[in-house]
Amino acid sequence: MLQTEKQYVQWQENETLRNALWLSESNHMPPARIVLVDDTTTADDAYRLACEGTSLLWRGDFHNARQLLQALGRRIDRTNERSELRKIKKATNKPNAVNIKGIPNLFHQQRQLQAQRSRILSRLLLELDTDYVSKLRRAPDLSAACMAAFGQLDKSVDESCLLSFRDLQGALGAAQWREKGVPIESLGLSIFPHYGVFAPTRHEYVQLLLDAPLPASHDVAYDIGTGTGLLAIILAQRGVPQVIATDLNPRALACANENFTRLEFTNVQLQQADLYPTDAPLANLIVCNPPWVPAKPSSSLEYAVYDAKSAMLRGVLQGAKQHLAEQGELWLIMSDLAEHLQLRTRDELLRLFADAGLAVKYRLDTQPKHGRSQDDTDPLHVARSAEITSLWCLTLI
Ligand SMILES: C[S@@+](CC[C@H](N)C(=O)[O-])C[C@H]1O[C@@H](n2cnc3c(N)ncnc32)[C@H](O)[C@@H]1O
Repeated sequence: MLQTEKQYVQWQENETLRNALWLSESNHMPPARIVLVDDTTTADDAYRLACEGTSLLWRGDFHNARQLLQALGRRIDRTNERSELRKIKKATNKPNAVNIKGIPNLFHQQRQLQAQRSRILSRLLLELDTDYVSKLRRAPDLSAACMAAFGQLDKSVDESCLLSFRDLQGALGAAQWREKGVPIESLGLSIFPHYGVFAPTRHEYVQLLLDAPLPASHDVAYDIGTGTGLLAIILAQRGVPQVIATDLNPRALACANENFTRLEFTNVQLQQADLYPTDAPLANLIVCNPPWVPAKPSSSLEYAVYDAKSAMLRGVLQGAKQHLAEQGELWLIMSDLAEHLQLRTRDELLRLFADAGLAVKYRLDTQPKHGRSQDDTDPLHVARSAEITSLWCLTLI
């Protein structure tokens, strides 16, 4: 999400001190040092400047900026491959005890490298006016995608904004997903994700939610952290008469609302809430697919993937007692990736269930088939290839 406090950035251009609104989805601070770059700037010079912490405001051809970004990416990857990571990667791909021990370190190192990569790439900037129009040569129409991602800008106050080319690419990619949708074959429908909302591009867990027997009474269900609304849609399609879906992220609420409307599910209500809905009847069924990895998100876009100190998981489990009707069930969707990364043990997970007064009634498992789980060049392949995604059916003790 964008910062609610507006931030501004200044730079010198043609003897003039320029000023623009600063947009950063990754919550990067406005750059202190900006130089102008164009088609005459070499990738090596741009890379050196970006690594030194200088931001590069692009004034050349629009498409050449995309090529420069790719060239920067290749240089970063080459440097990273030469780094320590490569040694660990070699070691961890051999399945023995010593290698397994290195996994948590490797995971943290990989995240650091990714964050550093993102910081360097985010230093290539472009200027747009407050209708998100670019004056660059061969610039495509960016307005609709930026409007959908970043919202309306205040033209009465601001004249232009600066953002990273990377954030712009994120907005353009999201606009495509939003237009063409993510087909969920097992449901016979497509889900249309919005920018900044967890996109169910890997959705092996959908089948688990279709296979699990509904509790005998299933008048009311909650979907906690609904994202695009996918789990609520499964429940509504399975005939649950009242589904209450919550999320903290306003973009998720707008997205889920659009999906429910498109599919004409009128029995799903949405609430902006921190976990559980307020003023709602007790639930016979609570479903939740929390972020699976207990680690600190490094940007707002990572909140759906990383759950710092398992806060969402704990909150959902702890709240179940208060919100479940008698004989009610909590269906928790969790992958065991965190266990393979040694960020949480199975015993710790079971202890969280027990501490919340919940017992395991049954568990359904599935093995992910997405590309990343099969990519043996991934340094964390040992962990990813062993991953199992489960639906834990929990009941009150
Ligand atoms: C992994 S995504 C799952 C989205 C969706 N249920 C699905 O399975 O595709 C987790 C969702 O939980 C939401 N979330 C995170 N913390 C939350 C909280 N405290 N209260 C409500 N929703 C939260 C995030 O915004 C995100 O949409």
